[in-house]
Amino acid sequence: MPAQIISGIETAKSIREELAIEIADLKTRHGLVPGLVTILVGEDPASQSYVAAKNKTAHALGIHSEQVTLPAETSEAELLAIVGEYNANSAIHGILVQLPLPRHIDEAKVLFAIAPQKDVDGFHPVNVGKMMLGQQCYLPCTPHGILELLQRSGVETSGAEVVVVGRSNIVGKPIANLMLQKRAGGNATVTVCHTRTKDMDFHTRRADILIVAAGVPKMIKGNQVKPGAVVIDVGVNRIGQAENGKAVLAGDVDFQDVVDKVSAITPVPGGVGPMTITMLMKNTVQAARQAAGMI
Ligand code: GUN
Repeated sequence: MPAQIISGIETAKSIREELAIEIADLKTRHGLVPGLVTILVGEDPASQSYVAAKNKTAHALGIHSEQVTLPAETSEAELLAIVGEYNANSAIHGILVQLPLPRHIDEAKVLFAIAPQKDVDGFHPVNVGKMMLGQQCYLPCTPHGILELLQRSGVETSGAEVVVVGRSNIVGKPIANLMLQKRAGGNATVTVCHTRTKDMDFHTRRADILIVAAGVPKMIKGNQVKPGAVVIDVGVNRIGQAENGKAVLAGDVDFQDVVDKVSAITPVPGGVGPMTITMLMKNTVQAARQAAGMI
């Protein structure tokens, strides 16, 4: 049977439709407009395009969005001061500082400075701690998007062997944690592989659900996956430029090599990417509701 192509575009579209209705309702019935600020430091092209997409989506859904673009030389103190201003700005419910930051800025310090109730990325240690404990919090957007994709595609996670490749704070560590939690969409047996893993293939070939977030283009080949597995490809690697100037993207999974072996797979682009942005919107709406005392 041909593999099911898990479309992040379609899933994101239906969640966005739900959100647009919710946002319109908040506005008309409660006079509440969710507000998001994105803060970008420097000129990394990938970060620029992510931030532009986040603001475009926010705008399309009726979220008030502000974009702060700062030069790469911005000092840590200047950035912390801007975060402080938005912490105190009642029209803004969500603050997103795009990562990575230039090297001279301490990322941990900046993330810690964001008010936890406005941390729609779910990167503040308070939210990370709550997530670990299974408490109500903002879930980080990419892992949250993966959970939604799996759930809405009818993939059974309970008792499944989940193998995560990559141990970043943004994807690998949180998705591993979420998948082992004792609740619907979790209850998996989780293994995390990384650059020091001795025999990666041994692990990936055992995976019922393989989640790859390593940042290495096309690293996972057909002989590294179990027949019938579900593969979630989180990689967004720029491997060239098309004639029209657009970046050519590749995932961390060699799609062509893997697609005939698996039962379901996310494409790149059009898989996890659109879900990340959608979950950011969802968290922003949640932040606005919380600020208004509605949750
Ligand atoms: N850089 C790559 N992914 C993300 C993300 O989800 N949030 C932020 N703030 N930066 C990122």
